[in-house]
Amino acid sequence: MKFAEVMKTDDWKTEKHVPVIDCPDTVKAGEKVAVEVGVGNEIAHPNTTEHHIRWIKLYFMPENGKFAYELANFDFAAHGESVEGANKGPAYTEPFGKALIKLTSSGTLLVTAYCNIHGIWENSKKIVVEA
Ligand SMILES: [Fe+2]
Repeated sequence: MKFAEVMKTDDWKTEKHVPVIDCPDTVKAGEKVAVEVGVGNEIAHPNTTEHHIRWIKLYFMPENGKFAYELANFDFAAHGESVEGANKGPAYTEPFGKALIKLTSSGTLLVTAYCNIHGIWENSKKIVVEA
């Protein structure tokens, strides 16, 4: 079995698990660019002790490159856990992350997100780097 067979994807506007990448389509080489990643941008994903997004990872595959690079890793650790029981805790981490990146070549940003009961989901976005 290949990892690609395990990854799920869909239209993020109708499927609440699909992570979304928000950044400019075109950037200048070497400039700092803010890239936001999130799950549930259109339809909120549950954030409970039993059902939540654990992490989102962001990668970059250069246009003429052979290998992908991990850019950022966001772990979401609080989902209402408490000694009083599930969903009685005082803290929740929402599935959102922001990274500042600099690129020197065009390529594709890739994102994966993990739901603790619905598995791993992916999405991608092309980014053009101008000299
Ligand atoms: Fe889920």
